[in-house]
Amino acid sequence: MVKKTPTNFVSSPNSLLTIIATILYLIPSQFHSLTLKDDINSLREIAHAIDPNSIAPYSYIRSWDFKVDPCESKGPQFLGILCDLPLDNSSSRITAIDLDGIGYEGFLTPAIGNLTELTILNLNNNKFRGPIPETIRKLRKLTRLSLSNNFFTGAIPREIGELKKLQYIDLSMNRFSGTIPYDMTSLRSLTYLSLSNNNFSGRIRNLTGLWQLNTLDISFNQFFGDLPNLPVSLRNIYFSHNIFSGPLTPLKDLIHVRWLDISDNRLSGAIQRDIFSLRQVIHLNVSFNRFASMDVINYSGQGPQLHLLEAQGNNLRGNLPINLVSFTNLTTINLSNNQFHGIIPKEYGQKLSTLWRQLYLDHNFLTGKLPLEFTHTLKNVKVSLGNNCLNCPTNVVLCRGGQRPGTECSGQHNI
Ligand SMILES: *[C@@H]1O[C@H](CO)[C@@H](O)[C@H](O)[C@H]1NC(C)=O
Ligand SMILES: *[C@@H]1O[C@H](CO)[C@@H](O)[C@H](O)[C@H]1NC(C)=O
Ligand SMILES: *[C@@H]1O[C@H](CO)[C@@H](O)[C@H](O)[C@H]1NC(C)=O
Ligand SMILES: *[C@@H]1O[C@H](CO)[C@@H](O)[C@H](O)[C@H]1NC(C)=O
Ligand SMILES: *[C@@H]1O[C@H](CO)[C@@H](O)[C@H](O)[C@H]1NC(C)=O
Ligand SMILES: *[C@@H]1O[C@H](CO)[C@@H](O)[C@H](O)[C@H]1NC(C)=O
Ligand SMILES: *[C@@H]1O[C@H](CO)[C@@H](O)[C@H](O)[C@H]1NC(C)=O
Ligand SMILES: *[C@@H]1O[C@H](CO)[C@@H](O)[C@H](O)[C@H]1NC(C)=O
Repeated sequence: MVKKTPTNFVSSPNSLLTIIATILYLIPSQFHSLTLKDDINSLREIAHAIDPNSIAPYSYIRSWDFKVDPCESKGPQFLGILCDLPLDNSSSRITAIDLDGIGYEGFLTPAIGNLTELTILNLNNNKFRGPIPETIRKLRKLTRLSLSNNFFTGAIPREIGELKKLQYIDLSMNRFSGTIPYDMTSLRSLTYLSLSNNNFSGRIRNLTGLWQLNTLDISFNQFFGDLPNLPVSLRNIYFSHNIFSGPLTPLKDLIHVRWLDISDNRLSGAIQRDIFSLRQVIHLNVSFNRFASMDVINYSGQGPQLHLLEAQGNNLRGNLPINLVSFTNLTTINLSNNQFHGIIPKEYGQKLSTLWRQLYLDHNFLTGKLPLEFTHTLKNVKVSLGNNCLNCPTNVVLCRGGQRPGTECSGQHNI
């Protein structure tokens, strides 16, 4: 028996569940099995743990009418749950709870642990507070745990590591704290993990056990120490706004990465060639760290996928990297607020009149004349050159922002 919900289950990775459920729905039921008593009790407890004042008139929870059987009811009762249809005369079981996000206030009851057939738990966009109950360890079939945008607190229970079927965990935008429990680092089915915008802290050493992980978002927390060892399966890495320090080396073998944002940390040393040799990276954001140098590969022939390079707000020294002109897909470059010196290479001029769309070089120690193309009227490009020591004619619009006195840029060669 399938409960219809207005939420879009098809968009979830569990659409297989929907398909199976739909097929089963078409088979006429020969049995009148009722929902398991423990499951009904758990639903009651879930509803009781929500502040009645926060249950809006047309909300899913308001539709929960315990005068009828949750899995048998054919009307608009028990919105937001999904049941399985037993093939024998055993009881129906609840397999998904996918609540509407309308600001329910309350706690997640420990009774959730009795819904042992649950595969999906989605409580996004509400005002649940308090911890994740430890009884969650009993949800052995759970594939999707989504608690984003609530007020949950406490640590991730280490028992979560026992839920080997988990594929998707989203705990973002809560007030969780503590570290990533060691037991959690061996969830071999996990493809998506977001812990962003919480108060997590501590070191993360080794996540290579999450060998199917595709997306890892731990941005906006207080993780510190060296960057962790990561599984090579990763495609999207969001580490921004933490306190990571040390070198970039742990990232050098992640050949499938497409999106790499490690901005706003305390990483240092060089942005090595290894990082630029990751050909699949489209978006590279290393801005606002303490990097001192950048060693860019010179590609010949087909370049890498890189579209956007943000390296502003570091301590990058030396000449501007000429080799960036060999990147065939690059359109946006931000190198502002660094310590680059010397001239703007003439090759940059050619790129600006063809492929490059945005080039930010302000707040450096650049000197000399602009390449010819810079002084032509360039269409659809954004360039900033302010606060260098350039010989920048004031009638050229790119030169707005003014320049430093030349003396500030002399002597930069040798530091
Ligand atoms: C159906 O339930 C009855 C009594 O509860 C039991 O004797 C019977 O074996 C069950 N049939 C199946 C197919 O499980
Ligand atoms: C889970 O179900 C068992 C058996 O019915 C019951 O004794 C227990 O109190 C339930 N647990 C919770 C946390 O409600
Ligand atoms: C965040 O966690 C730190 C300890 O790691 C604690 O001192 C601080 O009060 C927490 N902040 C919030 C807003 O919970
Ligand atoms: C990281 O963890 C994996 C599996 O969890 C293990 O095989 C590997 O040896 C560990 N690597 C390091 C450097 O500790
Ligand atoms: C790159 O990182 C900086 C600092 O975290 C951020 O302000 C900027 O929006 C990021 N760029 C993109 C395109 O996400
Ligand atoms: C980069 O490679 C191109 C062609 O392969 C070559 O013409 C150019 O001189 C090289 N640039 C540098 C800085 O080595
Ligand atoms: C990169 O450029 C090539 C051709 O120059 C193009 O085929 C490819 O789709 C581009 N990649 C992206 C991600 O846009
Ligand atoms: C480039 O970086 C500067 C900070 O150094 C920032 O103000 C500017 O918004 C950035 N531009 C883009 C397009 O990211």
